[in-house]
Amino acid sequence: EFKPLVFSGVQPTGNLHLGNYLGAIRKFVALQEKNDCMYCVVDLHALTAQLVHEDMIGQIRSITAAFLAAGIDPKQHIVFNQSQVPQHAELAWIFNCVARIGWMNRMTQFKDKAGKDREQASLGLYAYPSLMAADILVYRATHVPVGEDQKQHLELTRDIAMKFNMDFMEKIRPTGLGIDITVGDEPVHAYFPMVEPLIDGPAPRVMSLKDGSKKMSKSDPSDLSRINLMDDSDAISKKIRKAKTDPDALPSEVDGLKGRPEADNLVGIFAALADKTKADVLAEFGGQQFSVFKPALVDLAVEVLAPINAEMRRLMDDPGHIDAVLRDGGERARARAEKTMTEVRDIIGF
Ligand code: ADP
Ligand code: NA
Repeated sequence: EFKPLVFSGVQPTGNLHLGNYLGAIRKFVALQEKNDCMYCVVDLHALTAQLVHEDMIGQIRSITAAFLAAGIDPKQHIVFNQSQVPQHAELAWIFNCVARIGWMNRMTQFKDKAGKDREQASLGLYAYPSLMAADILVYRATHVPVGEDQKQHLELTRDIAMKFNMDFMEKIRPTGLGIDITVGDEPVHAYFPMVEPLIDGPAPRVMSLKDGSKKMSKSDPSDLSRINLMDDSDAISKKIRKAKTDPDALPSEVDGLKGRPEADNLVGIFAALADKTKADVLAEFGGQQFSVFKPALVDLAVEVLAPINAEMRRLMDDPGHIDAVLRDGGERARARAEKTMTEVRDIIGF
């Protein structure tokens, strides 16, 4: 029987911020109630932009602590570290041979991250989406909660799965390992499922607090541009008070946020933190000035983030416990990944 499975990953690079929390980690927590979930610290991905990391293990533990502090249950689900499951890299190599160079050339994140001197970017940065496809499909996962910035990579994951399914169709059939999926209206006997991105909610893309046209990012040189999960209440308050806005009052309808990216962003953050829609928030704050709205947003952000911050600090004081969680998760993940790879090797004919 083929069951739905949720998979997602976060890189162990730099501090986690509110965008990571609202775009990813908070959804991870919500999904675990009704689904089988696997959440991965993708440390192999962290090598793509920068090879040498001063404190890789500390970064890995810190992301794991954030997962646990946010409320992910590592007994019911699987929390693990990518490099402990070598099958990810094995499948990524096969996917490098499935994906076409033309597909990779269209990836906008590569263009953003490689910057001007593309010749000096690592081959790994270029192939990153192929490893991401392997992360997901080595478990034949079906649902992937991510921020909107990952949408293009998930489309590529589907393209890779589809080409593998089509190219090996005649080899998949006799193994009896296939699953029946529909593509458009066509029934297809496939090995890899077509993953569904889970990108929704009022803040699928959290923007910088200093520039409403840029996404909130850990690589932004200005620390005032983002709220970090490790920020204390004073820092959260200062950053929200200093956040860029416009001189007008908040509108009472969502349509009124058009052309006001900074206002739109803050209302979206409020809505996401309060588990409401933007319309709900504007019903409450429409007609009010930012001098009223911002303090309310500070209170809400502190209320949601302070307990996570405190629990992360508590967990980080006990690295032995975090390592044990990762060891246990890695063992269970390896067993699942090896089952898939045995089948994939069989389909290829190794
Ligand atoms: P990656 O570089 O692989 O995307 P990140 O650590 O940057 O890894 O992101 C981890 C998760 O957080 C991803 O699901 C990503 O989509 C999400 N994310 C990152 N930045 C934002 C943002 N500004 N708004 C919403 N989601 C975000
Ligand atoms: Na990202």
